[in-house]
Amino acid sequence: MKICRTIAGLKQQLGELRQEGKTIGFVPTMGFLHEGHASLMRQAKEQNEAAVLSIFVNPTQFGPNEDFDRYPRDEERDLELAEQNGMDLVFLPSVEEMYPRKPLTSVLVSGVTTRLCGASRPGHFDGVGLIVSKLFHIVQPDRAYFGMKDAQQVAVITQLVEDLNFNVDVVPCPTVREPDGLALSSRNVYLSAQQRSQAVVLSQSLQLAKEWIPQPGMTAGELVERVKNHIRGASGAAIDYVELLRFPSLEELSADAAINELPYTVILALAVKFGNTRLIDNSLYEPIGGVDHV
Ligand code: PAF
Repeated sequence: MKICRTIAGLKQQLGELRQEGKTIGFVPTMGFLHEGHASLMRQAKEQNEAAVLSIFVNPTQFGPNEDFDRYPRDEERDLELAEQNGMDLVFLPSVEEMYPRKPLTSVLVSGVTTRLCGASRPGHFDGVGLIVSKLFHIVQPDRAYFGMKDAQQVAVITQLVEDLNFNVDVVPCPTVREPDGLALSSRNVYLSAQQRSQAVVLSQSLQLAKEWIPQPGMTAGELVERVKNHIRGASGAAIDYVELLRFPSLEELSADAAINELPYTVILALAVKFGNTRLIDNSLYEPIGGVDHV
């Protein structure tokens, strides 16, 4: 496994892989890797002849009062995990390498960024659009792998790739969970023991919603209210948002829409704070013939 800290170094290594005719799978991350990232790495390795991991805590996707400075970092452990999961190249640039000067270009994806984290974290997806565009230009992967825990990010990047004709297949991968249901996230490390046990309310709510949705006449408004009430009942949990939207367009549904009659996939997306830690989770529900938990 080769480690590249510069764009020039990475391009040289990638050039060699391409000369050998290898397809390239790419896993962009912000590091502090966990089993969710490992599943992306394994899929990238399985579906491509070479796999590239990037680790870069991207400052442009954090708001001024967010956790950029304290975002967890552990390069040594990340490199071990990358090696164990068969990565051929790891790109580990510095902030100066990626942003030698303040970028004057914005990558704004509209529509899909209006709600959910786009509303709660203004500017977040502009930062994601910019860094992912830069990484795609540098790496030029055949396929890129993203976890569905960040379903809105998947929708944004899919739109970006379509709109700007990036020559890459975006591969959404299932959320990986702890045995009690908590979705894996690098930010789980911020939780105290008490908050960690309270945080199970997110996945519990998604499970309950899965049971409630098939009930005759269940409307979007009723479902959202039930989920909110369930979360409010958990001590320490402060709701940022609970929304049921069309997926992947992330368009609003009317409150009286009967969920069972909708001919399209919907997403139930949650963001809940425990102290200063904000966790997100979601589930997709396919139309007719039951409910699909992703
Ligand atoms: O999902 C993440 O870890 C980040 O948003 C990404 C896609 C690596 C861009 O910085």
